[in-house]
Amino acid sequence: MVRDYLQYRGLTEPQWFEYARLVRSAIRDCALPTRALDLGCGPGTFAVPLTTLTESISEVVAVDESEEMLDQLTRNFSPVGASRLTTLKTIHGDFLEDSVATEIGGGFGLVVLSEVIHLIASPRSAVAAAARFLSPRGAILLRTSTPEQLAACEWYQFFPEALLIDQERHHREHDLVGMLGDAGLTTEVAVVREHREWPVAEYVSKFRARPTSSLRLITPQSFNIGLANLIESTSSLTHVSQFRDMTVVIGRQAR
Ligand SMILES: C[S@@+](CC[C@H](N)C(=O)[O-])C[C@H]1O[C@@H](n2cnc3c(N)ncnc32)[C@H](O)[C@@H]1O
Repeated sequence: MVRDYLQYRGLTEPQWFEYARLVRSAIRDCALPTRALDLGCGPGTFAVPLTTLTESISEVVAVDESEEMLDQLTRNFSPVGASRLTTLKTIHGDFLEDSVATEIGGGFGLVVLSEVIHLIASPRSAVAAAARFLSPRGAILLRTSTPEQLAACEWYQFFPEALLIDQERHHREHDLVGMLGDAGLTTEVAVVREHREWPVAEYVSKFRARPTSSLRLITPQSFNIGLANLIESTSSLTHVSQFRDMTVVIGRQAR
C-alpha cells in the first residue's frame, strides 16, 4: 500500500522546484537556518526534499501516526543527498495528542500540513495545534485540493462515487484561509499545477491497486466498472498525462 502511495503521490523534480520556491517564501522572515516540521509526513513527500534545501533548513522533524509510512520515509531519506546542515528526525504518533505535541516541542520556522487536513475530524484544532509549533516569525504551508480542484481531475470521471466521498471531506479555499486566520496568521494563497506523465501500464496498475482511501470505500462493483472504462479509454495511448491543481495556503505569524 505504501509503495503504491509513493508512486502515486511523490513529487517530481519540477514540482518540487515550485514548492521549494513557496517554502523559501514561507520562511523569508525567519532567522535562517531554521527548523521545519512536517505533520502527517507520510513517506516523506515534503520531509525528504526539505532536507536538500541547503542554506535555509537545519533540521526536519517528520511526524506520522503510521509506522509503515515512517519506515518508508526512512528508506527514502539519503543523508548523502541532504544538505550538510540538515538532519532528519522522525516522531511516531498523532500530533494532536499532548504527549506527541510535547515531544515535538516548538520553535519551527516552517510547519508543513500536506494533504492531511482533510483526514482530520477537527481541522480547525489541527491548524491551531500546528500554529503552536511555530517560532515567532514562522509560517504554516498547508497543501490540499479544494472540492472544485478534485472535480477537474480526469480519473474521477471513472469513479464518480469516489469523487463525492473526497469532495465531502476536502475544504474550500475560503474555509482554509479562515482556519489559518482564526489561528492568528496572515494568509497568502497560491495554486500549483502538478503534472505527471505515466506509461499506460503503470497508470492502470496504480488504479488496479486501489491506492487512495476513497477508491477503497466505493463498492467493488462500481470500482470494477470504473476500472474497465478507464482501461478502455486509455487503450490506444502509450502514456497518460495527468494534471491536478493543488491549493497552497501560507499562514504567517505576525512579526
Ligand atoms: C494523505 S497522506 C499525506 C502524506 C504527505 N504529507 C503527502 O503530502 O504526501 C496523510 C498522512 O497523514 C497521516 N496522519 C493523518 N492524521 C494524522 C495525525 N493526527 N497525526 C499524525 N499523522 C497523521 C497519515 O498517517 C498519512 O500518512
